[in-house]
Amino acid sequence: MGQTLVIEGGRRLEGTVRVGGAKNAVLPCMAAALLTGEDCYLENVPRIADVEFMIQVLESLGGRVEWSGAHCLRLNAANITALSPPADLVTSQRASFLVMGSLLGRFGYAACPPPGGDVIGQRPIDVHLAGFAALGATIGREAEKYVAKAQGLRGATIFLDYPSVLGTENLLLATSLSQGRSLLVNAACEPEVVCLAEMLQAMGARISGVGTHTIEVEGAASLHGVAHNIIPDRIEAGTFAIAAAITGGDVEIEGARPDHLMAFTAKLQEVGVRIEPGRAIPLRGSPGPSGLGSKGNMCLRVRGGDALRAVSIQAVPYPGLATDLQAPMAALLTQAHGTSYINERVFENRLLYVGELRKMGAEVVTTGTTAIIQGPTPLIGSQVRALDVRAGAAVVLAALVARGTTRVGEIHHLDRGYEALDQKLCSLGAVIQRIEE
Ligand code: EPU
Repeated sequence: MGQTLVIEGGRRLEGTVRVGGAKNAVLPCMAAALLTGEDCYLENVPRIADVEFMIQVLESLGGRVEWSGAHCLRLNAANITALSPPADLVTSQRASFLVMGSLLGRFGYAACPPPGGDVIGQRPIDVHLAGFAALGATIGREAEKYVAKAQGLRGATIFLDYPSVLGTENLLLATSLSQGRSLLVNAACEPEVVCLAEMLQAMGARISGVGTHTIEVEGAASLHGVAHNIIPDRIEAGTFAIAAAITGGDVEIEGARPDHLMAFTAKLQEVGVRIEPGRAIPLRGSPGPSGLGSKGNMCLRVRGGDALRAVSIQAVPYPGLATDLQAPMAALLTQAHGTSYINERVFENRLLYVGELRKMGAEVVTTGTTAIIQGPTPLIGSQVRALDVRAGAAVVLAALVARGTTRVGEIHHLDRGYEALDQKLCSLGAVIQRIEE
């Protein structure tokens, strides 16, 4: 039994919607709570399935986690009883592999099977393991698990073969409790990495170069508890922006941080979508009102243009256009005039959603890691599947503009990363029902 979204297309979206905390920021921050025996509080936590998975992972290790508010978690890792999470939890979610860095840093031992996650490419973990080894850990394999052991990690210069997001996060977690100074060269600079680093700094770690490709960590002997606010989810914000654009609507997206969305908003403007700062909402700790490109204004107003134009897109690491917005952008470009090209340069197999869009009548073909979209095409309500979190968002967006009824199956994928996406879209005028099938 699974749930299906039944979406009536053709409604123009209007109104205001609020973005929740970022999935890909809260998961590493939850893993960071393993670095101390003191209480950690996370605020602005999205109520999504991936957070529930991570709670189970931490609890399987002896951690205590409770909701202390609607979107606030209290985490305590004073009594850790296991240093190896169960395989079924780790294989259902990629971010659970982050417990490796925390456990190795704090206890000198961690064991974990290769992590699962969306089917979007091979997704190796060599960057993580090579980094642990450079810090002095011995990496081995016992049955299906990777085992990392160390008699105290020693700071080192680590060259990351690729600026892997989770790889950088795992190494930040491990080096925060190592001896001496580490340099992470070719590190990822995504806002979610910055959110984790800021939490670690607030716990007592000395980290500089955050948000750049070279991060320096001066390891600490111990870290303390913290209260930390999770950044808004830039991918959820982008999904609402496309929902507004594809329906020719007018939507204010509260909590969207323009400084995290610059490549995306620039591309939307090239498509012909109108974007401007919304009503200013002061960001905690950030003074004054400002426009696009600043984090002072936490609201974007997005209005669909008269005639959308085809564009070329490259999905690359931050600050380039996010791969997680690539599939949603494809849905939008089915409505743009001309031929659009989308080149996915992060994952080698992230165009599977194209088959679902084609079922709806989209004129899309792929060659290698490029999708070529001919538009505008009238889309037709169909039976489609959410193949992964963002592929699911793409078909939901397409369904908003399709003629007739679309049924989106396998929406557990969507629920992993979006809090009540259907309800939030309905609050803007979409007609969506969630049914059991
Ligand atoms: N890679 C390697 N070696 C490694 C690790 C990665 O070659 O050791 C390669 C991958 O094969 C891929 C590229 O590096 O081609 C990027 O992978 P990365 O490690 O940066 O991705 P990730 O950390 O596994 C996170 C997000 C993804 C997001 C990517 C890229 C989390 C939990 N996941 O994955 O989010 O797409 O960064 O920004 O943070 C999503 O939210 O839907 C999602 C898939």
